Formats: sequence, C-alpha cells, structure tokens
Amino acid sequence: MAKPFKPSVHLKDNDVTDESVYVNRRTLLKSLGFVGASTLLAKSAGAAGWFWEDDVDAPKSELKPQLKPLKFTQPSQFQINETRTPEDKVTTYNNFYEFGTGKDDPAKNATEFQTNSWTLKVDGLVKKPFVLDYESLTSRFPLEERIYRLRCVEAWSMVVPWIGFELAALIKQAEPLMSAKYVAFETLYDPEQMPGQRSRFVGGGIEYPYVEGLRLDEAMHPLTLMSVGLYGKTLPAQNGAPIRLVVPWKYGFKSIKSIVRIRLTDKQPPTTWNRLASNEYGFYANVNPQVAHPRWSQASERRITTGGLLARNRIDTQMFNGYQEVAPLYSGMDLSRYY
Ligand code: MTE
Repeated sequence: MAKPFKPSVHLKDNDVTDESVYVNRRTLLKSLGFVGASTLLAKSAGAAGWFWEDDVDAPKSELKPQLKPLKFTQPSQFQINETRTPEDKVTTYNNFYEFGTGKDDPAKNATEFQTNSWTLKVDGLVKKPFVLDYESLTSRFPLEERIYRLRCVEAWSMVVPWIGFELAALIKQAEPLMSAKYVAFETLYDPEQMPGQRSRFVGGGIEYPYVEGLRLDEAMHPLTLMSVGLYGKTLPAQNGAPIRLVVPWKYGFKSIKSIVRIRLTDKQPPTTWNRLASNEYGFYANVNPQVAHPRWSQASERRITTGGLLARNRIDTQMFNGYQEVAPLYSGMDLSRYY
C-alpha cells in the first residue's frame, strides 16, 4: 500500500490557521482545478455554447434538493440545557473534505448533491444482510430528536439538534454473528458529485472513500446515532445527507457522513484520519481534555453559539465530551494510550 501522504493543511480551520495561509490554500485549490458546483454546471452548459456565465444560476436553484420536514419524538434524556448552535452556523461551518477543505466549501459545493437513489447496505458478519433505499432511511425506524454536543478535534464545538435512530436498531435487524467485533463505515465514492475526491491532494491528502470504524459495543451503545436530519428537517448535503453517524463522546471525525455501507467485521477496520496520520488521530478518538493533540491542547474548546463564527467563547472540554455513561466501555484501558 502507498505510504500515507501527510498533508500540511488537514484538519485545520481558519481559527487555528493563519488567515494568509488559509486564503492561499483556497487560491491553490482553485488553481489545481477544484471548482465549485456552479462552475461545473457552467462547463457542461458551456459545451453547448449558448449561455452567458450569469445564466447558469437559474437551473441551479431548481436542481437544489429540498429539505423535507421530519416527524420525530423528543425523549427527555437527550435534551441538554446548553445554547444550541444556530442552524445557519451548523449548516455553513462544516468539515466535509469531499466538497473542499474550507469550512464554507461544503455548503457552497454540495448544493446539487443528489441523494434520491441512495442505498445503504448492511452486510459482513451478519445473518441477514440488507439494503435500505432512500425512503426507508427515514421511515424504517422511529425517529427521535437528540440534542448532542459535537466536539471537533480542531477544538471547536457545537450543540446540534439531530434527528435519527439508534445504530443498535439497524445492527440488530441484520442479526450479527458471534464473530463480529467491529463495525466499518464507508462514505459514498462519487468523484463526479464530490469534487474533493478527484485528486488526492485537493481532497486534503485523503484516500477516498472516507472510512470509519467502531468497536461493536461502541456501535451498540444507546448514544450512538444514525442521523437523517437536524433542526426538524432532513440533513443538508453539507452535514452528510442522507444519513450519517453521530458518536457524541468522540472527536467529530468519527461521525462519518453520507454513508453507503456498514459492514460488521472481526478485525479493527482502517479509519481515514488514522491512516493519514496515526500519531495524531487514533482509532478510538474519545474526547479527552488531558491528552493533547501533538500540535494543540485539547483542554478547552471554542463553542460556536450565537456570536460570530470565530468568537472567543472558550469553555473547558469535558472527558468523553460530557457523556460519562460511556466510561464502562473503556474500563481497564489506559485512555492516554488509546487516543
Ligand atoms: N465524513 C466525511 N465523509 N468526510 C469528512 O470530511 N469530516 C468529519 C466528520 N465526518 C468528514 C466526515 C469531521 S472532521 C467532523 S468535525 C464532522 O464530520 C463535522 O460535521 P459537521 O460538518 O456536520 O459539523
């Protein structure tokens, strides 16, 4: 296998990164041919040779997939008494490298992402493998609203009202075999729709598709959520439409987006950021204020609430992101080693 390429820009934001570097990176991405969806549209229409550049905005709005309202219940144990991050921030400040490495790239570049013919396959070490189609993602399991903290490894955080169902419900449906020990997740691979997948460098040095994994007991924990919506509606593309994982006690990179396959396995599966820089990103990646990232402290975080995106609203980071109930999953493990 090729030696992982260590990028100089991965998992940094314009808070951690000097503004000039950030701006240069964007210029560089542009020069390397990372173009927004509107430019792509312009290219194909341009082949027919009949439009002015401004015209291409018209079909774009028609194509934009509409977010549907979702019906859900609100179990009281998942409502937290912390200010929610406003919806416009949850949907415009994103990490989704398949659509670009800047925080505002996914919202801009995923506007035409098509999910209607989506399928999610559940297979591997199970008795009853199955495939869910797009409709079943929101109708097969009862939906709940859960307000969770999301703590990114880059030391910013949000409070998000997700809608979804427990991953455990999905896994039980497939009837895992005794030999299953881990769960492997895979994001869609579709370079046509996901410009960041077209070149290894442009996508942040990532080998696509983006992959993640959990131990089976972590996957079966009641907090582990398959999310199909937020703020009362289906998921926007930039947040991982049509279905993503949310593991609130782990750093955000474990919460893999736009999932097409969930496979039960007996071996610890490779995970994207660990494959890229194993000294910086572990398989477990439990939020732990005591274990610093090699390049920055994890003791506190910038909570994104109603202030500006870069407002200095710093709070202390909590062990397991405040979800202490998961501690028994790791009894006997030295959590300063298993980062
Ligand atoms: N999933 C895929 N497929 N690609 C990504 O780049 N980024 C991860 C995670 N899931 C990522 C992904 C990271 S680093 C974080 S912090 C969260 O998504 C961010 O989720 P959000 O944009 O909904 O806040």
